[in-house]
Amino acid sequence: MNQSIFLIVNDIEKQVSIREADTLLFVLRERLGLFGAKAGCENGDCGSCTILVDDRPYNACHMLAIEAEGKRITTIEGLQQSPFQEKFIKNWAIQCGFCTPGFILNCHALLEQYPNADEATILEALDSNICRCTGYEEIKQTVQEVIQWKRASGDS
Ligand code: FES
Ligand code: FES
Repeated sequence: MNQSIFLIVNDIEKQVSIREADTLLFVLRERLGLFGAKAGCENGDCGSCTILVDDRPYNACHMLAIEAEGKRITTIEGLQQSPFQEKFIKNWAIQCGFCTPGFILNCHALLEQYPNADEATILEALDSNICRCTGYEEIKQTVQEVIQWKRASGDS
């Protein structure tokens, strides 16, 4: 049976009709037309569906839409004022791009929590996302570059 809930997605409140078992990933993509979060494994393993819930990264395939009611959801479409999009492109940290929205949101959340993350912390955070094109080194370097950039611009 369908029910109506309110989700706060990218700072906009949306009313959406869902079934109890609908995942947040399904609702974002198929009900709200936000295709940035990708359906990879749909089993919590690959991180391609990463979104932020109250600023922390979550796998949208592993969360029911109903669990997200009243929480702030950020998808790649709503990520504003983050240097990561530009730096990923500049550093060739993107190849096919399928995994990229999840990596960017994860990296962004990492530096919000640990602005001076060391290499071990960065690698541990990146562990939750899989890139089949194997661009991990460039992604790690991009995180380190953003840390330096934020320090230089007085943003951390
Ligand atoms: S699609 Fe969600 S973790 Fe892989
Ligand atoms: S860039 Fe292709 S899967 Fe990561």
